Amino acid sequence: MKFDTPATTNPIDRGRVIGIPHDRIDGPAKVTGTAPYAYERHDAAPNAAYGWIVGSAIAKGRIGAIDLRAAEAAPGVLGIVTHQNAGPLGKGNFNTAHLLGGPQVEHYEQAVALVIADTLENARDAARLVRIDYAPEQGRFDLAAERDKGIPPPPGFGGPADTKTGDFEAGFAKAAVKIDQSYTTPDQSHAMMEPHATTAAWNGDKLTLWTSNQMIAWSVGEMAKTLKIPPENIRLVSPYIGGGFGAKLWVRADALLAALGSRMIGRPVKVAIARPQIPNNTVHRPATIQRIRIGADKQGVIDAIAHEVWSGDLPGGGAETAAQQTRLLYRGPNRLTTHRLSTLDLPEGNAMRAPGEAVGLLALEVAMDELAEACGVDPVELRIRNDVQYDPEAGPQRPFSSRKLIECLREGAARFGWNRRNPKSGQVRDGRWLVGMGVASAFRNNLVGKSGARIGVDAKGHVIVETDMTDIGTGSYTIIAQTAAEMMGVPLEAVTVRLGDSRFPVSAGSGGQWGANSSTAGVYAAAMALRAKLAEKAGFPADKALFEDGLIRLGNQSQSLATLAGREGLWAEDSMEFGDLDKRYAQATFGAHFCEVGVDIDTAEVRVRRMGGAFAAGRILNPKSARSQVIGAMTMGVGAALMEELSVDTRFGFFVNHDMAEYLVPVHADIPHQDVLFIDELDDKSSPMKAKGVGELGICGAGAAVANAIYNATGVRLRDYPLTIDKIL
Ligand code: MOS
Repeated sequence: MKFDTPATTNPIDRGRVIGIPHDRIDGPAKVTGTAPYAYERHDAAPNAAYGWIVGSAIAKGRIGAIDLRAAEAAPGVLGIVTHQNAGPLGKGNFNTAHLLGGPQVEHYEQAVALVIADTLENARDAARLVRIDYAPEQGRFDLAAERDKGIPPPPGFGGPADTKTGDFEAGFAKAAVKIDQSYTTPDQSHAMMEPHATTAAWNGDKLTLWTSNQMIAWSVGEMAKTLKIPPENIRLVSPYIGGGFGAKLWVRADALLAALGSRMIGRPVKVAIARPQIPNNTVHRPATIQRIRIGADKQGVIDAIAHEVWSGDLPGGGAETAAQQTRLLYRGPNRLTTHRLSTLDLPEGNAMRAPGEAVGLLALEVAMDELAEACGVDPVELRIRNDVQYDPEAGPQRPFSSRKLIECLREGAARFGWNRRNPKSGQVRDGRWLVGMGVASAFRNNLVGKSGARIGVDAKGHVIVETDMTDIGTGSYTIIAQTAAEMMGVPLEAVTVRLGDSRFPVSAGSGGQWGANSSTAGVYAAAMALRAKLAEKAGFPADKALFEDGLIRLGNQSQSLATLAGREGLWAEDSMEFGDLDKRYAQATFGAHFCEVGVDIDTAEVRVRRMGGAFAAGRILNPKSARSQVIGAMTMGVGAALMEELSVDTRFGFFVNHDMAEYLVPVHADIPHQDVLFIDELDDKSSPMKAKGVGELGICGAGAAVANAIYNATGVRLRDYPLTIDKIL
């Protein structure tokens, strides 16, 4: 099914199951420990041996001799994989560094060996006996030092490197009010709950990988290229995932090494990347340096805006496209955005929840707060004055498909009690706390992607959906079940959803907050095909038949789905393909974050006291799981504002704080009540579901609201994240 004209009224609009808050249907399996995760597939791959990854001890250079004798003689050791015995390996399109290093080493902790043993303890113990000689080379590890060597990155999900509209320099020069500030954000780790993990087993030349992965089809392709085997020979299974945040968009070293190890010893092998290995072995969100200039009139109306971003990555890697939102968020005829990418020999940078906007808004929304103060305009009002209902780079001929930023700001402010904010900073005391409030706009792109599914009804009238879509904790199982129930006219309990298996139709997968809208649109397409088949069997015209209560109805005639399905059941498969509506309409999601902080008058300890947000993201398919997504993302925004930082050792080129004891993320005690309001919105240009993404929107701007609240509380303007005590004092 092709979607290339705005959606009209369709069966999903009945809203009996879709749009209703519902507990996640996979919840009981998860809390009872019966949901199988990749490292625990005793059921599917019994007798698995254990692999332990040996990471490179240098950041850049070459491996010389490898001495495995002591390790091979250790108790329980079954085999050791290195580049010397792994056979020829290719490279996929997505990973920047090789998943198995050697002889060249590309980054610290890059996997250079896998020790396989009968137990985890034996594997880990023997791994310490592997002797590797290195010839280190000088690397580049300091973004600030490399910044001016940056070049424009190739275009990608973040659009082109640079954009230019009007004449920024001229507009800025004559502006009555000018802001010109620089901001920095550090490297960040995804820090998802479940580490990267894989169980691998071969059957002849056929490989099965039970792995923790967001994008099944991408990852099958990546694995096939790396192992140089046909993709048909790989089955990738990932039904449950303990968080991804972009770290699992494609396969990592655990998957490749489990496959190589299993091939070597002729037995299933499982590999988890140990928590202390994750920050340096896997991917992270790259640090940025950002300069923002805004020229406005005395009322705060923007005439010129420029956002320049510098980041670094390994050769062949990508940029952190932090100026993305600045292209679309506020008005102004004179505009400039640039991204520059320097070569760094640090571990590989890559996508982390809302790549680009999440850290771009940490800078832009503080700059807007600075502009509000310079103009003496309320920060909520300033943003409303600068709203624009079309893509400001393309002009009025490219309107937003839907854009309710103003509604989010107004309704969010009212609920939060924004009118109680003292506009003058450092004025409000509550005991030993200085108290302040901050606001920030939220913005995240709305991408869509082709997504397929198959759907069947069995002799009992039970509906089954299969797609390779993943549920990374986001609630995919539930919204897909809701979609199928709505479309087929059955209760939610009569739907079974099977996800995350490369044997199922290819979906858009979980990434870039496109998953919910795209994958349910794919289920919609398949359900329309199944409805047509059922209607034909019933002898009813498909467009007039009504599906409800397990029946297909026409006037006062009806037949049950169960009977029509018969003993064989009835199945249909289709996919949603998206046309070029996104060329005619800018598509994005919007919101407004509000935050109240207390800052200790003596120690400068920051406590978040209240958070509130209002969000407009199309139809909210399941308000309960959507709220969970948003509050989780707001929490991650607090982490970005106050805690999260991978500290770079610029001498040796690695992240020093590589565990959860030293890479700080918020815990329950750090997070107060979070109030979430969804603004009513149906986006008919986004898909027949009229939904948009929401999984990443909530992190976008949240941290800036914290920063702005700290300023309002204390009068200290911070521009270098995280905003730690030492920077406030
Ligand atoms: Mo997302 S950073 O595309 O999982």
